[in-house]
Amino acid sequence: MSFLIVSSQRAPKAWVEALKAEAPDLELEIYPEVKDPEKVEFALSWKHPHGIYKNYPNLKVIASMGAGIDHIIEDPVIPEHIKITRVIDEQLTKDMGVFVLSLILEHLRNLSVHHCSKVWKPQQYLRPEEVQVGIMGMGVLGVGVAETLIRNKFNVTGWSRSKKEILGVTTFHGDDQLQDFLEESNVLVCLLPLTSETENILNKDLFKRLPEGAYVINVARGPHLVEEDLLEMIEKGHLSGAALDVFRKEPLPEDHPFWKNEKIRITPHIASVTHPKTVVPQILDNFRRMQEGKELENVVSREKEY
Ligand code: OXD
Repeated sequence: MSFLIVSSQRAPKAWVEALKAEAPDLELEIYPEVKDPEKVEFALSWKHPHGIYKNYPNLKVIASMGAGIDHIIEDPVIPEHIKITRVIDEQLTKDMGVFVLSLILEHLRNLSVHHCSKVWKPQQYLRPEEVQVGIMGMGVLGVGVAETLIRNKFNVTGWSRSKKEILGVTTFHGDDQLQDFLEESNVLVCLLPLTSETENILNKDLFKRLPEGAYVINVARGPHLVEEDLLEMIEKGHLSGAALDVFRKEPLPEDHPFWKNEKIRITPHIASVTHPKTVVPQILDNFRRMQEGKELENVVSREKEY
């Protein structure tokens, strides 16, 4: 029984080291040089080339190297019986909270505006108590961000597909309550999973329902956002700007109009980055559970797509 690493964008070296440190006897294979595909039962995966998993007849589990699993389920030929797991990690959640908090503070206190304008002109600013932050997606990361913001005195609301109760957060759910959620959100944070329902959800129609001057933060996935709609709504002045950490095409092409827009803050998908050392124990735990025929942790629903 072997353990396969498939990683086209995350260097496998750090994963190999972390796995070997925890489990020196692990029989590791690293894609694409796989000696014995028949022996592979567990794959640790990030952005694999589509179609490859059908070449592993005994594969039982595909574990995402990160919190998202969209890069796995968008491959249409993953056999139904294969279980897919994701990472849930306290450190990732904390990192996301701190990152979103910094983006909001940077926006509220006009930190980059002063430097870029090169003009000594103190500006008015809003305090956290005066701002309502609406978080779309109240999964582990969404709740973590909400807690960080609440600790810093922001008013926080949350929207999700199904009803959720979260201490200190006014929650909304479903299409019927989306309007009420949006119309009071001065800052909108997208932390939704990417599914066929949520793709393109950040579009002109949704932006129009936000209050004048709202600020949009996307730390989920690039395809949530209709890029031309964002540019248009910023241009018209309805949105005051946006902070984007994820893009349809990554790295963001050099000639992309986002780079030239002073109201758009761009970061290279760094909101919360998985550290192999921190998450390897939970991945190995699932590997052992699979070997012992036990139920796995953090399994995603293929039907819900998250
Ligand atoms: C993740 C990511 O899903 O880094 O973990 O985007």
